[in-house]
Amino acid sequence: MEELVEPTAAQLEAFPTSDPGALIAREPLYATHTGACFVGDAQDLLSELPPRSIDLVVTSPPYALHFEKEYGNVPKAEYINWFAPFAAGVHRVLRDSGSFVLNLGGSYNAGEPTRSLYHFKLLVHLVDTLGFHLAQECFWYNPAKLPTPAEWVNVRRVRIKDSVEYVWWLSKTPNPKANNANVLVPYSKDMKRLMQRGLRATRRPSGHHVTQKFLKDRGGSIPSNLLEWGNNDSNSAFIRRCRELGVTSHPARFPRVLPEFFIRLLTAPGDIVLDIFSGSNTTGSVAEQLGRGWLAFEIDEKYARISALRFDQEIL
Ligand SMILES: C[S@@+](CC[C@H](N)C(=O)[O-])C[C@H]1O[C@@H](n2cnc3c(N)ncnc32)[C@H](O)[C@@H]1O
Repeated sequence: MEELVEPTAAQLEAFPTSDPGALIAREPLYATHTGACFVGDAQDLLSELPPRSIDLVVTSPPYALHFEKEYGNVPKAEYINWFAPFAAGVHRVLRDSGSFVLNLGGSYNAGEPTRSLYHFKLLVHLVDTLGFHLAQECFWYNPAKLPTPAEWVNVRRVRIKDSVEYVWWLSKTPNPKANNANVLVPYSKDMKRLMQRGLRATRRPSGHHVTQKFLKDRGGSIPSNLLEWGNNDSNSAFIRRCRELGVTSHPARFPRVLPEFFIRLLTAPGDIVLDIFSGSNTTGSVAEQLGRGWLAFEIDEKYARISALRFDQEIL
């Protein structure tokens, strides 16, 4: 398995080794030092990319909800048929070492307090029909998520608060490039105490042998697949700039930590990261900061123009 390391200052300076925008033979809406944003339907744009040219696709598509959001949502019954051509395009453009990270929210069935299975059905389709591998299922726990639908949770009080979204980490082969040493989290207080005090080697009831090796300082703990992040960047430089210019920022931005976590876990400096439903281009701006190349596709030109503000470009 390929080793990933953090970019050195010299590597960041030397970037780009390739020009991601040049992979597509049309004019981007805007380009930066390490990436380019294109306006258009992601299906068309994917078909214009050469096969095996992308290291990681991170994206959050319009979810299947039974009410329309500002940027349009897809009815649940049609979701797999709608999404499949995009996923097939992603499969084609990924390198064999590449990953496809897909963030989806769950939802209720219309008119009753039961949950839809659309995101599970989609996952089965992506693996069984389109040939992706499920590298790992991850869960984004957002404690600040509002309790909805009000009818079931707040009024009738027959359901509890839904606080997770799904992040399917899919890969083109069973062994995608990855290194969890790049996403370590601080040790817990208990672990720090143990590391100071030491422990007596024991066998756990589970049969695991716990030895002193367990206490070696490796720079942090391996994160779990329950990823806790709030989604509150109301004070970020991008949002402040949008406010100053009197423009409304994208209503469904994901937190920067989401693409950051997977870009660190799954790519090396100089690799190319693509977001096919890029909205306010959170993914591109994080990729640029981490010294990765990036491409962003967005069908709504208004959102794409506003996203340029993340790179200090004003093309409103
Ligand atoms: C959930 S939002 C993504 C938000 C993004 N993660 C962010 O942080 O700003 C989904 C985006 O997909 C865009 N979209 C919908 N259909 C598309 C298509 N066929 N091709 C490209 N973009 C599309 C929508 O306009 C919307 O901006």
